[in-house]
Formats: sequence, structure tokens, C-alpha cells
Amino acid sequence: MQIIKNASEMQKISRELKDKGKRIAVVPTMGYLHEGHLSLVRHAQELADIVIATIFVNPKQFGPNEDFDQYPRDFNRDNSLLESIGCDYIFYPDVSDIYPLSYATEINMSGVANVLEGESRPGHFNGVALVVLKLFNITKADVSIFGQKDFQQTLVIKQLVRDFNLDIQVIIYPIVREPYGLAMSSRNRYLSEVEREKSSIIFVALDEAKKAVAKGERRRKMINSVILTTLRQVPELKIDYVYTAKAENLEITDEFLPGEEIVMLIAVWMGRTRLIDNSMTKIPITLNDNNFIEGI
Ligand code: PAJ
Repeated sequence: MQIIKNASEMQKISRELKDKGKRIAVVPTMGYLHEGHLSLVRHAQELADIVIATIFVNPKQFGPNEDFDQYPRDFNRDNSLLESIGCDYIFYPDVSDIYPLSYATEINMSGVANVLEGESRPGHFNGVALVVLKLFNITKADVSIFGQKDFQQTLVIKQLVRDFNLDIQVIIYPIVREPYGLAMSSRNRYLSEVEREKSSIIFVALDEAKKAVAKGERRRKMINSVILTTLRQVPELKIDYVYTAKAENLEITDEFLPGEEIVMLIAVWMGRTRLIDNSMTKIPITLNDNNFIEGI
């Protein structure tokens, strides 16, 4: 495995690999890797000849009062983890290489970038879209892998790819969880053992909502209320948002249609740590009173 720190060097290597007919996959990360990230890399290995994992804590996606400085970093640990699973390259640039003093171009995304995380963290997705565009250009990847854990981010990336006609495939990988249900996250290290256990209610809440949908619940407010009631069993959790919407575009409607793919998204604070999670499900297709199948 090679560690590349310089953007133009990475670009040169990628060009040579492509000239040799190699298919390149990129897995963008901010490091402090856990099993969730590693699963993306393993999946990338199945999809391409060469896998480039990028490690870059992107200042442009953090708000002024967010945890950019405290964000956990441990390059040596990340390096050995990636080495142990046979990743080919780590692209690990300095901030000054990605955003030199002369840097001048920003992205301003609307639509799907403006709700939920976009509302709670203004400018966050502009920063994400910008760095991901740069990472795509630097690595020249044919395919990129992102986690469903950051569901809204996956929609932002797909929007970016459509809007800029980027010639790259975007693959979404399912959420990897701790044995007791909490979605793995680099920020989980901020939590005490007790807080982690208590936070597993987030998964329980999503599961309860999924069961309600399977039993026939289609009303958005009722699905949200199943989640809220469950979350409130743990008073230490402060709810930022609970949101159920069409998975395709985060559009809301009072009642979802049979056959529709929906997503339930949660953001909470546990102490000073903000946690997000989500789950997708399909509104069941049922027989109506006339024995016609609804939803086809
Ligand atoms: P980061 O939070 O490090 O996540 C990197 C990738 O790992 C993202 O695609 C994220 O969705 C995925 N991931 C995180 N936790 C996961 C889990 N439990 N299961 C499956 N996948 C998981 O997301 C970012 O970094 C940044 O915004 C980035 C895209 C790198 C741009 O800076």
C-alpha cells in the first residue's frame, strides 16, 4: 500500500493506472476508521482493480462552532487498518494542498442539500460536495462508495454527479452497526459506555417504525410519532429532528403510497455528541377491498 500526500502526484498515479486499463474505486473518508469504513473499502475491492481510500478532515464542511479541531485523528492506526485489508493507496493530503491560499471556487447546492442536516449545519453540504468533487478529480475514480449512514449525503453526492455530468458511478453501502444496534461512527468515541448503550434506543426506534410500516402504517406523522415515543424513553437524548420522507428525494407527503421506498431519519444529541441514523423501508403493496393490487 502506498501513501500519497500530494494531489498532483495522486493524479499522475491515477492517470498511469487508467492508461494501463485499471478500474479505480475511491472511498472518501475523514479517517479515524472503524468497521463501517473498512466495509466500504472491502466492497470497493470487489468492484475495482485498484482502491484508493482518502483521509482528509475537510475544514469546509464544519461550521465555526463545530468539532473540526477536536475531530478524532489517528493516521498510524488508519494506516495499519487499511494495510491489513489490502487497500492499494491512501490519499492523505494536507489542508494547504487541497485549499491553498489562492483557492477561490465554492459550490452552492440547493434542493436536497438545504433540509435536515443542511438546516442544522448551514453550508455543511456545500463543503462536502466541494471536497468530493475535488477527490473525484484527483483520483480519477470510475466508482465511488459511500455509506447509507449519511443518507442525505448520498443524495447530495448523486445530485453533484448529475449536475456536473461527472463520469463516476456512486454506490451506497448499508449501515454497519455495533452489536447492540448503534450505527458505527467516528464520533461514538465521544460517548461513555453508558451513553453508547442508551443511544441504542435510536436503532430500536427505527425498528419499531419499520414494524409499524410493515403492519400497514403509511401516515407520515404516525410513523414519526412511533419513533418519537420510543426515543423519549431515554430522556438524556435531545431530539434534533425525526423525519420520514420519500427515499428518492426526501420529499414529504401526508400518506405514502404502496410500493413507495421511504426513509426515516433521526438526529439527536447525546450530551455534547450529535448522532445521526436512518432506515429505509418499502410501504407494503396490499390488496384493496376489490382485490386489486395497489401500488403497481
Ligand atoms: P466519514 O464520516 O469519515 O465517512 C466516510 C464514509 O464512511 C461515508 O460514506 C460514510 O457514510 C461511511 N460510513 C460512516 N459510518 C458508517 C457506518 N456505520 N456504516 C457504513 N458506512 C459508514 O462522510 C464523510 O466522512 C465525509 O463527509 C466525506 C464524504 C469523506 C467528505 O469529506
